[in-house]
Amino acid sequence: MSAVILGIESTAHTLSFGFVDVEGVAYPSESAVFKPEEGGIHPREAADHHSKVAGELLKRFMETHELSRRDIDAVAFSQGPGLGPCLRVGASIARSLSHSWNIPLVGVNHCVAHIEIGRSQTGCDDPVLLYVSGGNTQVIARANERYRVLGETLDIGIGNMLDKFARAQGIPFPGGPEIERLAAAWTADTPGAELSGVSLPYGVQGMDLTFSGILTAAQQKTLDGNPLREVCWSLQEHSFAACVEVAERAMAHTGKEELLLGGGVACNERLREMSQIMCGERGGESFWPARPFCVDNGTMIAELGRRMIDSGTITSLTNSAVSPGLRTDHTIVTWD
Ligand code: ATP
Ligand code: FE2
Repeated sequence: MSAVILGIESTAHTLSFGFVDVEGVAYPSESAVFKPEEGGIHPREAADHHSKVAGELLKRFMETHELSRRDIDAVAFSQGPGLGPCLRVGASIARSLSHSWNIPLVGVNHCVAHIEIGRSQTGCDDPVLLYVSGGNTQVIARANERYRVLGETLDIGIGNMLDKFARAQGIPFPGGPEIERLAAAWTADTPGAELSGVSLPYGVQGMDLTFSGILTAAQQKTLDGNPLREVCWSLQEHSFAACVEVAERAMAHTGKEELLLGGGVACNERLREMSQIMCGERGGESFWPARPFCVDNGTMIAELGRRMIDSGTITSLTNSAVSPGLRTDHTIVTWD
């Protein structure tokens, strides 16, 4: 294989190498996920994990795809947003590969990368994006030269909320998939389940969302003796409905007819179903990429890097510092 763009992802728990060819055809990433033994992610520990596994992971990635350094035209990396120590590991690898292989470097906005891989994988053109991951929950739409944030969480990300709830129940990270399994088991086993469930706060504030109240309330419901599966189901129904409501309002305001799901929580079948129902009712269409392209992955970084390079943007060494607080709407969109 020749002429590919390498992408390096390291914003939080995942270190990942992926690539696209110059036409934008995407290939599977090679990833290593840091899983804390207990508690949440400590940025320093995650960064140490990334540094430790990076050499072996890159070697395996190159071997799996039979890539040699001569095949690689450019290297893209996540410049932000994310955890500073983790971002710095990916950026250092990217800088050293760029220098020693004498290829261009391009720093990309991680949130925008979720959008672009979604567009390229699903073929949707000008969607409202519901970006639901561990650290981020945003409703985004392109207007002029920016991806504008129309609504977002005012406290924690929805995935973070699911993970924290799960952790308090002894379910290891990532908690989202197990909550999905328990919720599905509740509806499968309980006649009339859709009429049951526990009452939880509904965190829509205008176009924004909140999740810390629902987390506290759901934890209390389990302490009160409600079945865990029932609480998991209610937690999904309330929090996903809130996201889909804001996404629908964004579609109505902007007149856009496509909804694209992105981020790790977009793996959830119930969220996909709710999005499909909402879009169907208003004559729109919903899209989501395959699971490996919903969660953090190096391929999405490569895809955004490719688009930026094609539109004439590369990053000089002096501008390659990481940007942990980078906003989705900070990046000027210079590509179609
Ligand atoms: P970002 O840096 O964009 O915030 P992230 O670091 O949280 O991303 P992702 O891989 O995008 O990483 O998302 C991980 C999150 O997705 C975790 O919170 C996990 O629980 C959640 N998740 C994964 N699969 C599912 C699922 N099936 N249902 C619900 N949540 C899920
Ligand atoms: Fe992400």
